[in-house]
Amino acid sequence: MNKLYGLLGHPVGHSMSPLMHNDAFKQLGMNGFYHAFDVPEGKLNEAVEAFKLFNISGFNVTIPHKVSIMNLLDEIDEEAMMVGAVNTVVNIEGRLIGYNTDGRGYLTSLIPMLKKPLADSNVLVIGAGGASRGIVTALANQGVSLLTITNRTLEKAIEIKDNYLTYKKANLNILSLQDAEKNLAMYDIVINTTSIGMSPQIDAVPISIDNIKSTAILSDLIYNPLQTKLLKIGEERAITTHNGVGMFVEQGALAFLKWTGQQPDTARMRKIVLQQLGGFSC
Ligand code: ATR
Repeated sequence: MNKLYGLLGHPVGHSMSPLMHNDAFKQLGMNGFYHAFDVPEGKLNEAVEAFKLFNISGFNVTIPHKVSIMNLLDEIDEEAMMVGAVNTVVNIEGRLIGYNTDGRGYLTSLIPMLKKPLADSNVLVIGAGGASRGIVTALANQGVSLLTITNRTLEKAIEIKDNYLTYKKANLNILSLQDAEKNLAMYDIVINTTSIGMSPQIDAVPISIDNIKSTAILSDLIYNPLQTKLLKIGEERAITTHNGVGMFVEQGALAFLKWTGQQPDTARMRKIVLQQLGGFSC
């Protein structure tokens, strides 16, 4: 009998997860099937009850349910608690266990590109929303101690700092966007976690990179478009760039591993995602 998996979110019509996971089941010769369920706000409880009833083996959670799902789970792992959001749920004999694979997925895609160990790198994170929390938590758990957050609204960056210090007692700096721009030459890795660069802001950049150092890695969590304006400017200046496709693939692969105990072929997953996005490089 097929084991059932799913995505729970709204909207989910353009999700690439079903294609990616169903291909992995096929490749590994597994009887798994993954379906995207469109669950509007206010219907989450009923959807989770239905998932339990039908014994769904595992599922992903996306916007707008990543935070509210936490109240409906039996257990939440430490990293997901730190992030304050869950994107992956495993059903173990009726007990729902929540994880967050976004930050770890991001690092898995970033680490092969690094020119020096992550723990010794000076990292600037732009943005202080949910995506930023995922990345900052993963960086902290990976032992990064030189970490700065810059954001339009400084209070939101300070909130993350307070949370991060509770867990890690590490040194996290907060800078205004103007000061971050001025001091950009200090950073080995610059990561955009904001939505600037995505439609409808495709011609905007979150920060000016005039002062970026030539050996820096410029990273953007956005994968649609594959090359944001920020990454385009970086590439024109011969800076190493990294887009969000790897994160999308790796967060999915980590979820797949948690559900099935099997490691899917991430190169193949990446190819499928790139085909969907109509792109060729990243
Ligand atoms: P997500 O969960 O995707 O991270 P979010 O929680 O809404 O989404 O966070 C969006 C981030 O993008 C925030 O850091 C936001 O800055 P503010 O905290 O100041 O709102 C940032 N952002 C979005 N649009 C922006 C804009 N036009 N200029 C500057 N920052 C912007």
